[in-house]
Amino acid sequence: MPLAASATLRAATPGPVVHRNLYGHFAEHLGRGIYEGLWVGPDSPIPNTRGIRDDVLAALKALDIPVLRWPGGCFADEYHWKDGIGPREQRPRILNTHWGAVVENNHFGTHEFMDLCEQLGCEPYICGNVGSGEVREMMEWVEYLTSDASSPMADLRRKNGREKPWRVRYFGVGNESWGCGGSMRPEYYADEYRRYNTFCKNHSGNQLYRIACGANVDDYRWTEVLMREAGRNMDGLSLHYYTLPTGWPPKESATQFDEPMWHLTLSKALHMETLIRRHGAIMDVHDPEKRVGMIIDEWGTWFAPEPGSTPGFLYQQNTLRDALVAALHFHIFHRHADRVVMTNIAQTVNVLQAMILTDGPRMLRTPTYWVFEMFKAHQGGTTLPVDLHDAPAYSVEADASGATTGPAAPIPAVSASATRRAADGVVHVSLANLHPRESARVELRLDQLAAKRVSGRVLTASAMNAHNTFDAPDAVRPARFTGATLADRVLVAELPPMSVVALELA
Ligand code: AHR
Repeated sequence: MPLAASATLRAATPGPVVHRNLYGHFAEHLGRGIYEGLWVGPDSPIPNTRGIRDDVLAALKALDIPVLRWPGGCFADEYHWKDGIGPREQRPRILNTHWGAVVENNHFGTHEFMDLCEQLGCEPYICGNVGSGEVREMMEWVEYLTSDASSPMADLRRKNGREKPWRVRYFGVGNESWGCGGSMRPEYYADEYRRYNTFCKNHSGNQLYRIACGANVDDYRWTEVLMREAGRNMDGLSLHYYTLPTGWPPKESATQFDEPMWHLTLSKALHMETLIRRHGAIMDVHDPEKRVGMIIDEWGTWFAPEPGSTPGFLYQQNTLRDALVAALHFHIFHRHADRVVMTNIAQTVNVLQAMILTDGPRMLRTPTYWVFEMFKAHQGGTTLPVDLHDAPAYSVEADASGATTGPAAPIPAVSASATRRAADGVVHVSLANLHPRESARVELRLDQLAAKRVSGRVLTASAMNAHNTFDAPDAVRPARFTGATLADRVLVAELPPMSVVALELA
């Protein structure tokens, strides 16, 4: 007997719009994320456009990436942007102290990043250096990027080959200032934020959306102090939360795990909802109009590095489990789209929960990539609430650490979300079955929605740890879904075990 879930899709009471930026990305100077992953240089035998590899770019373009965060992460607070402009062979070589102490040749700098964004058709989100930088340095970067005046920084940009300023909306003032970005207390950082932000000017019609460094996981005091002391001076406040099954440091294998670990990982992913609620409640006290956006600019799974890889490079494989983690996150983000206006998965290529892995000239798309691709239809859609009435639970006998012998707390076996696209009224429903052994029959009553046809795709596999390799790059990829029927305003979907399904109702 499959698990049975019943739900109502309330089309007559739409919720907030899913900001396109909920599907944002993050690329840091870390391991092979930028170098090799995105940037190979113009002289590389790997086909490229002005140094950016064509195969990766084409794959990423298919995701309709709305926004890309750069240059870090921890790297942002040791990055001095003037090292990354001018003739590449003259740029200084520095040490990337956070990530493997490798030499950073600065060949990928401001112009290369902005070119990447233009090639991707996405908005840049630049994170400035508070930890080891200076106010003047940040002030001048903003001027270099966005000013059309005849001014020292705009003229320097012109000298380096870019006549017109770029449009840069999203600007972060420091990263993890409570940790790798300077080990600050929230009171101190709030003042630093106010000082740095004062000198980040709006030039030549460019309007900055100013993002303050937010809390680590459940540091609610950080959110409280930042909102109280600097809420009026910011447009967005960030939050970082990684899915670490057994906490810090990351020690679990990305590919070798049993069912209790599968269950534990998914339950940790679901913790994102609690964090958004509780940080959001604090923000509501100071900002009841929800003017300040919650920006979850680092999220995703963090496992032990792939055996044989450089530990500081954070290279990990990506399985069907990661796909389920991504689907759960998006459903949570949709539910909180009134406050959460941008998220950035960590990270795009070759680092942590990546979309793409590369090996020299070869590349593969991960199961997580396919969730981004299947869910892109949700971008910009209006949420239609899905009320799960009979929601089956999924539990396992013991938790993965073996610390307890009793059953781990049950989690919902089924997750669902729906949005309506403004342009054509098409409704997209996405569903996930978390249970690795049982299929799930979902009966969705369509309230005030007269759809006639349903079609869709499914992402699943026969093993929890199914993943793509360079020899079998398409082992896990979406297939046409034939398990859905629509009659008398009732949609029935038979979800295979451990699956993600994306449906279109027209
Ligand atoms: O994404 C990897 C690192 O995780 C980032 O550099 C940092 O901000 C976070 O701790």
